[in-house]
Amino acid sequence: MLQTQQKIFRKFYYPVLPIAHLQDGPKGVKLMNEDIVLWLDEEGKPAAAVDRCCHRTAKLSKGTVREGSVVCPYHGWAFNRTGKCTYFPQSELEDPPKVYKIAGYHCEERYGYVWVALEDPVTGIPEFKYSDDASFRKVDQFYEVIHCAAFRLMENSFDAAHVAFVHQNTFGDINNPIPPKMDITPAEWGFETYHEAPVTNKLNQQVKTINVDEDETVRKAYGRWYLPFIRQNTIQYPTGLIHSIITCATPIDDKSCQLVQFALRNDTEADVPAERVIAFDRAVVDEDMDVLETTEYNVSLDVRRKVENHMLSDKPGIVMRQMLLDLFAQYGEEEVI
Ligand code: FES
Ligand SMILES: [Fe+2]
Repeated sequence: MLQTQQKIFRKFYYPVLPIAHLQDGPKGVKLMNEDIVLWLDEEGKPAAAVDRCCHRTAKLSKGTVREGSVVCPYHGWAFNRTGKCTYFPQSELEDPPKVYKIAGYHCEERYGYVWVALEDPVTGIPEFKYSDDASFRKVDQFYEVIHCAAFRLMENSFDAAHVAFVHQNTFGDINNPIPPKMDITPAEWGFETYHEAPVTNKLNQQVKTINVDEDETVRKAYGRWYLPFIRQNTIQYPTGLIHSIITCATPIDDKSCQLVQFALRNDTEADVPAERVIAFDRAVVDEDMDVLETTEYNVSLDVRRKVENHMLSDKPGIVMRQMLLDLFAQYGEEEVI
């Protein structure tokens, strides 16, 4: 599968930028190989359009914002959130014809990020568990480019067998390589998982994230996969602490994606400073990326082709592959290889 070639992926919302980045003017991002300009309209809501002026193709993301429209840096044409040209500085010579327009995209703000869907979305932005719960705080963790297919990050999130190896220096145990059993239940636009796993916080002395002195504990993990590239992983500790991580892999092009990750926790800054929460997950993400960035970006979804070998604990990744193939079939598409 080449992630930018599957047309159905254009019909999902993806987080593309922290909304705070738009305070000082328009910004450019790339989503599914398309250059997009983002800006704030007159109501302060984010807007998205193709980052290419319909006059002489200049990048609108290098421009400014005027009365809610993005203004091209080249000759000053301005476009509103629907892509219509709203202002034309040369209008003493002629009126702006209706053909002066660019493609606008679906754009919303949620969870402090700008979300974009390139075509009419088939489903909304996920409603994450605990996001409306006042006893939870949000800790923004990572916004960075990673050089692997978005699917690789998703299957890794539900792969219990890599923990003993990849995370042996943070919370895995190399001497206990048998992964715990994981239950999978189909859900709307994805699935839910549950497993329990003994973990050791090897960084506890430096990065104490659960505010207890023991370095070893058992954690319950409730996973939720949202098609195609978002997961929420809710980790519950015996102390009652809930650390719920939302990880989004937004496809930039076929070989890379934008990692957007934040955590929801039912403790306070006084219990564990955000800095420490980020430091532990930073170490974990770095361990994952070190391996993921070596993987093949053209992921083989159809297991019948036998491009990759599989084992029993790979079930979540195999179910994901099948659910994506079913999605393609539903929209008259095939896996692009
Ligand atoms: S290129 Fe944008 S106004 Fe001329
Ligand atoms: Fe991992």
